[in-house]
This record gives sequence, C-alpha cells and structure tokens, in this order.
Amino acid sequence: MQTDDLDSIARDILRRNDRGTYTIPTSGLYPFQWNWDSAFAAWGFATFDPSRAWTELETLFSAQWDTGMVPHIIFHRDDEGYFPGPGVWGTGTTPPSSGISQPPVAAILARLIHDSAGGTDRLRALYPKMLAWHRWWQRARTVNGTACITHPWESGRDNCPDWDPGMANVDGSNVGPYQRRDTGHVDPSMRPGKEDYDRYLAIVQFGRACGWDQDTILNDGPFLMADPAIHFILMRANRDLAALARTLGEDPAEPEAMAAELEAALPSIWNDHLQAYCARDMKTGTFAESLSSGAALGLLAGVENAAMETKLAAMWDRVAYGIPSNDPAAPSFNARRYWRGPTWPVVNALIAIGLRSAGRHAEETRLRAETAALIRQGGFFEYFDPQDGTACGGDNFTWTAAIWLAWANGANGRD
Ligand code: DGY
Repeated sequence: MQTDDLDSIARDILRRNDRGTYTIPTSGLYPFQWNWDSAFAAWGFATFDPSRAWTELETLFSAQWDTGMVPHIIFHRDDEGYFPGPGVWGTGTTPPSSGISQPPVAAILARLIHDSAGGTDRLRALYPKMLAWHRWWQRARTVNGTACITHPWESGRDNCPDWDPGMANVDGSNVGPYQRRDTGHVDPSMRPGKEDYDRYLAIVQFGRACGWDQDTILNDGPFLMADPAIHFILMRANRDLAALARTLGEDPAEPEAMAAELEAALPSIWNDHLQAYCARDMKTGTFAESLSSGAALGLLAGVENAAMETKLAAMWDRVAYGIPSNDPAAPSFNARRYWRGPTWPVVNALIAIGLRSAGRHAEETRLRAETAALIRQGGFFEYFDPQDGTACGGDNFTWTAAIWLAWANGANGRD
C-alpha cells in the first residue's frame, strides 16, 4: 500500500479511537486510557492536530495522584469488556484509576511534540506535573538509585522473561475465581498465560488490601524488580525534562540531578555473566539472565557499552524485523506471545529516538525500514512476529498508527 494511503488509515485509527479528550489503545481489548499509549497517541496527533496532542497529555495528567503518580490506566467510563476493571483495583480515586504507573515516556514525547509542533503555553502548564511524576518515580520506585517496578504491568512489558524470577515467588493460588476478557478479544496464544494472570491479580489484591500505600507496596509487596527499561526511560525523560526547563526558563537542576543519580546506579543492573544490563529481583538479588529489548533501551538513554552492543546486534540479526522483546536464542523465546519474543513498534520507536540523538543514522534507518515493512505487510497491529512478520495482538492500534505517522513513514526522517 502507498504511504499516503497508510497515512490516511493511521489518522483514521487515531480519530476512531479518540474519545474526545483521550484516546483508547484499541476498542475491545483496551477500552480505557493507558498511560504510555496516550503519550504516543499525542505524538501521532501532533502530526496533524497539535492542539489535540496537548489535550491528550493534559487528560493523562488530570488523573495524577496527589503523590505525583500518574496511573497506568484511567477508567474515564466503565466498560465490562476489560478485566480487571475499576472495581477490582479499588483505588477510590476520581477519575477511577489503577494503583500502579507505567513507563514515564511523557516528557520524551512532549519534547518531540514541542520541537515539531510548538505549544509552549500548553507545555508550560504540564511541566510541573511531569516533574512531580519524575519525583514520584525517584521517591516511590527507586531502591538505592535503581528504578524498580512493583508489578509486571508497571513495566509495560507484562510477561517478558525479565520478570520470571520475581513472578516465581508470587503466590497466585488464592486469588479466587475471575474471568479474563483479553482472551475473548485476541488469540490466547498471543497473550500471557493463566498462571501469569493469577499472579498479576495477587499483586493487585495486595495493593488494594494495603489501601495502595506505596511504601508498603515497595517494602512488603509480593514483587519488586529492577527494570532496566524504566531506568533508561527515566534517565532520558529527566534529561528531556531538563531541556524543556531551559526552554521554559525554569531551573533544570532537579531533573538533571535525577538523571545523574540514575546514571550513577547503572552498575547495579549490569549483569557481568550476561554482559548486558538486565532485570534483577530486588528481594533476592537474582538477575533474570534474559537479554531483552529492555537492555536495548539503553540506546534511548545514550548508554553505550561495547560488550552489550555486540550481544544486542547479534540478537537483532537473528530476526528479520525490528528488535525482538526477547532473544530468539533463549529457551524462553516465543515469537508471538506478547512480550516473550515479538517486536513492538513502540519499543523500536523509542530505541530509534536514542539512535537519532546519537547520530547513528544507519541503524535508525534499518530499524525504521523494518518497522515500516511490518506495518505495510500486516497493518496497524499491536506487535509482530519478528521472524516472519505475522501481525499479533490487537488491530487498529493507536500507538502503531501514531508511530507510523510520527516516525515509521519516514516523513521526518532521512531515508
Ligand atoms: C493488559 O491488560 O494486558 C495490560 O497490559 C495491563 O496494563
């Protein structure tokens, strides 16, 4: 299909998933506002409706908790088609939301949106909210400077093998009966398994039982793992926030200091045996021993390490399309099961943002060409088999459409 036709289909997907002031990732499977999906939606809107792009971020931050946390799902309206809904989370917030967060990409994308489409007044109003969110990550989700997650959903990379050691110690046997909805919308072999869901729910039930007290969740919760992807994203987001501070005439010292603290803590997630940055169970100190796209996101933060790059390059060469979410050489690799192997346009785009900043144009061009080929062949799906390009997960997906418009179609690129 021609690029122009795909542009118009992508814009149409954004408009159809637009619920007025926020965008759902896709109807059926994800009928609410999701945190990092929304930031990418804004990036897509910025290519044809900049005001709507800022509205998307404003709606996201309108659900910010007093603590500074920006929740991972905001349930603006109820929808029986999703589980677990607001009643299960029981956070008691207005609007109803989940009790955990998601990768803090908003400042990264706000900077790109401002660079390409302006909107300084809208950015100025968002700046203190983004700063408060980054402070929350620093306060409520770092241990000795290392960025951690308290639920695999907080990473955005739900069933990645990165979380296997932490999940092995979560007891999911007492969660009671429940009915999943996701497997009614997409092929169950492309989704997490039942044991994963039992454990996901056990962690939610712990949070609810302690009234979503974040100290209790961090110190006594059933799951706590260092997440290299969040670590790298937060490093980059703090640097971008510092750049935005300079643009706005604000003091960049605090986001700069937060980025420096994260950089100083990098040795804690360096796995010498794997020769890569790696997820780590903070309860036991055990590394996940998985080479994932979480390590590849080091490129977003400008973290260059020759040994790791050799491994990542080999991982990329093992597939035909994009960066796989898990190394195809690993026994845990599954080419179509969500975050256990598929390639995700959203991660490819984040890596490409880092490659571009580092002037690594050849790799960025390759990554864009491979991502664009997946979309041209398979459509605007959630993720793809990195070996044969099979489209997986949800269709008419907001962030894939947004990424097409803002990056993968080459409109702002060099190819
Ligand atoms: C889901 O429901 O699959 C989401 O990833 C949770 O955020």
